[in-house]
Amino acid sequence: MIITIDGPSSSGKSTVAKLVSKFFSIVHIDSGSIYRAITLLAMDNNLIHKKKVNIQYLLKCLEENKISFKKKEKNIFKICINDNFIEKRIRTSEISNNVSIVAAIKEVRDYVLKLQRKIAKNQSVVMDGRDIGSVVFPNAKYKFFLEASLKNRSERRWNDLKKNEKNISLANVKKDLSIRDILDTNREHSPLVVPKNSIIINSDNLSIDQVADKIIKLIN
Ligand code: C5P
Repeated sequence: MIITIDGPSSSGKSTVAKLVSKFFSIVHIDSGSIYRAITLLAMDNNLIHKKKVNIQYLLKCLEENKISFKKKEKNIFKICINDNFIEKRIRTSEISNNVSIVAAIKEVRDYVLKLQRKIAKNQSVVMDGRDIGSVVFPNAKYKFFLEASLKNRSERRWNDLKKNEKNISLANVKKDLSIRDILDTNREHSPLVVPKNSIIINSDNLSIDQVADKIIKLIN
């Protein structure tokens, strides 16, 4: 069983995907975390200058370091670099501000695509992201697309970030999300689109639990 959940930043995909994975007892993979891990590698190695990425060195870094998912709890797998959990380090606004330029690189997408398909080869999975139903698993049986207004998404993201970044402003979060929306939607390779045959769910007036319930009922 492959369930895909796509949508723009902070539309609630990962939280909903986690609930769906729990209900069906299958693995959840947050594909955005792979792009965030690659961005962390690029930043740790000083490979991003003025929004330009040194692609050649980044590919070398990807060869020399292992990006993988490791089990944290039952059905919960988290991204690792060289087997070290990096969850906290990839959720900063600095990573968010750079991830979309890294995710637009064709070679990076090819690398991630291989990893995504390998994970789903021998097991059921619910995967969330931007291109999961359109490019990664176009033949998946269960495809969903979550949408929500920029205002609601910014407030959600701000509430999350505030816990660790005391000085972050709602205006800056909103600006970052709208830039990412533009970059993710307009890039050449695997842009954010509503995948063919996917069911669109608007989460503006629904709680995360209500969205997850809706998806579970539709699948059942
Ligand atoms: O979902 P999240 O906000 O963590 O994703 C971070 C970024 O990774 C997105 O803004 C997008 O640029 C990229 N991404 C992608 N394709 C995916 C998942 C994420 O391009 N399937």
